[in-house]
Order: sequence, then structure tokens, then C-alpha cells
Amino acid sequence: MYKKILVAVDGSEQAAKAALHGAELAAKLGADLILFHVVPALPSYASISPDQLGIVHQDVAKEFYKQGREILNQAMSELADYNINISKEISVGHPADEICKMVANCGCDLLIMGSRGLGQFKGYLMGSVSNRVCRLAGCPVLIMR
Ligand SMILES: Nc1ncnc2c1ncn2[C@@H]1O[C@H](COP(=O)(O)OP(=O)(O)OP(=O)(O)O)[C@@H](O)[C@H]1O
Ligand SMILES: [Mg+2]
Repeated sequence: MYKKILVAVDGSEQAAKAALHGAELAAKLGADLILFHVVPALPSYASISPDQLGIVHQDVAKEFYKQGREILNQAMSELADYNINISKEISVGHPADEICKMVANCGCDLLIMGSRGLGQFKGYLMGSVSNRVCRLAGCPVLIMR
């Protein structure tokens, strides 16, 4: 069955649920688990001159990246009890597109994610990332509610 499971994590409760579910499945199936986070890219207009703005842009980007690594470390630490092979991957860009790229590049055969994430507006069942990914990902997608 599944050999390589990718879990997309954004620091939300539902993504944490998705990671737990991924770990359960990986343990039962003898699959590898990859935790993946996308650091949202800053808008390009923030990187133009004057120089001061460029520096602020770099600092903010670095801080976002640091937070991304913390999100991955936290997700990994919550899976410490599972005797499975877990790795972490991070990239910068548009979350939905990066998740779909990662699915293609890592050759995973199942993607697990939350239906919603950290977004504040909760009017819809699915957020914009889960909505786009489940239409475009090149492998089966399991959405945790
Ligand atoms: N930056 C990200 N990196 C990795 N996975 C993500 C990221 N953002 C969202 N996800 C995944 O997508 C799931 C759904 O999140 P989504 O962003 O679609 O919902 P939302 O935050 O509630 O809504 P929106 O972002 O559209 O305001 C999350 O539980 C997580 O699994
Ligand atoms: Mg979101």
C-alpha cells in the first residue's frame, strides 16, 4: 500500500491531527513519513529599494523561515512515540503550489492535510490551500476534519 506519506503542516490544530493520523498509518503500513511546511513568500514589492526596506524584507523573511522550522520541530516532537522513519522538508513560496510540487518531487503516494489551518475566516469547510491542493495534487489526498 502506501510507502511514502507526506503531511503538510502549518502549525494549526488540524494539521497536528493530520500528522498524528499520518504517523498511525505509517506505523501500520511500514511507510516513511515526511513533514512538510511552506514558508509563505513575501510580496515582491517589499524587496525593492530603498535599501532600508530591503533589509526589513530580509529580516522578516528570515523570521518567517525560523518560525517555519519551529512548526516542523514541534510537529516532529509530537510524533516521538511512533517507531517510524520521519523526515522534515521546508520550502518558500505559495503553499498550495509548493505542496503539489513536493508531491511530485518526493514521489510520495499519499498526502495528508487538514481541511482548515490558521486562517481566521472560517466560513467554508475547506481553506484555500486544502481546496487547491486536493484539486491539483498528483496523488491521493486525505483531508482531516
Ligand atoms: N504554509 C503551509 N505549509 C504547509 N501546509 C499548509 C500550509 N498552509 C496550509 N497548509 C495545510 O493545509 C491545511 C488547510 O489549511 P488552509 O490554509 O487551506 O486553511 P485556512 O488557513 O483555514 O484558510 P486560508 O489560509 O485560506 O485562510 C492545513 O491544515 C495544512 O495541512
Ligand atoms: Mg491557511
